[in-house]
Amino acid sequence: MLWTVLLALLVLLLLQTQLSMCLKELRTGGSSLPAVSSSSSSPSSSSSSSSPYNTTQQRLPGAIIIGVRKGGTRALLEMLNLHADVEVARAEVHYFNVEEHYRRGLAWYRAQMPFTLPGQLTVEKTPGYFAAPQVPARVWDMNPAVRLLLIVRDPAERLVSDYTQVLHNRMTRHKPYQPLEELLLHKGHIDPSYKAVQRSLYHLHLARWLEVFPREQIHVVDGDALIRDPFPELRKAERFLDLPPRISPNNFYYNTTKGFYCLLSAGHDKCLDESKGRPHAPLSTQAFRKLCHYFRKPNKLFFEMVGRSFSWC
Ligand code: A3P
Repeated sequence: MLWTVLLALLVLLLLQTQLSMCLKELRTGGSSLPAVSSSSSSPSSSSSSSSPYNTTQQRLPGAIIIGVRKGGTRALLEMLNLHADVEVARAEVHYFNVEEHYRRGLAWYRAQMPFTLPGQLTVEKTPGYFAAPQVPARVWDMNPAVRLLLIVRDPAERLVSDYTQVLHNRMTRHKPYQPLEELLLHKGHIDPSYKAVQRSLYHLHLARWLEVFPREQIHVVDGDALIRDPFPELRKAERFLDLPPRISPNNFYYNTTKGFYCLLSAGHDKCLDESKGRPHAPLSTQAFRKLCHYFRKPNKLFFEMVGRSFSWC
């Protein structure tokens, strides 16, 4: 009799453990995660704490999309997330560039990450990292083996997109904002103190990253090519991240209403929200030409740094 009771208790205990593990998986979305590759050398797994179970945990990122702002960072993150071995932090974390966040330490940073299985790669994106001088050394301190993705776009187009975003945010809050030309030009010349101009000087920011990280650890994604045809850029990113090729052209379809590619996965389709790909604020042809001329030299320096060129204006 005593043995029967003990056995029943044991079975109950086992069932309870199983149930709580299932609930946790469901809460974190882990139940839908497919089988993972067991790459023990993956940077994502190096930062995990040890666990007796093969369950999901929050891990520090093994790859970070560091910028550029308005370069297509959200599209790249969402597209990488199509890969079964990748989990992404949905919100921009701003850990390394916001002092208040950085002071909270790595435990806080880790707590912002998605739950992953061992071998899965955690990816976060914060475009503000690229131009913030203190960030490269801090990222290195977290993990010198972390892989960095930099998505770039024609710096003149990027600037107009940057302005359009700020303008939109100001208008939503019913706040006034100067026309782009007023901010951009000073006595008929490009004003180098305008923040959006500075953010488009890619060579200056990249130089700081290259003081800390080897060139091979930074993968440059062509943001304009990603807009035109995402798949080839995704294939290159998979290769850089040592991921098995899983993303296919069937994961993308061109949405004529949106005017951009949208994502297809497991029968679901998803377009980026309306803040991505909205019409740009107007800028005269003459001012745009000045902008293109202004960026010619900085662009050349950037091309030399990355060892390739882009057909920017
Ligand atoms: P625009 O809004 O100027 O067109 P970020 O995510 O870094 O803010 O970048 C936003 C830019 O991503 C958009 O700039 C858009 O051009 C680009 N983008 C690239 N692929 C896209 C896609 N599939 N859907 C929507 N926007 C995309």
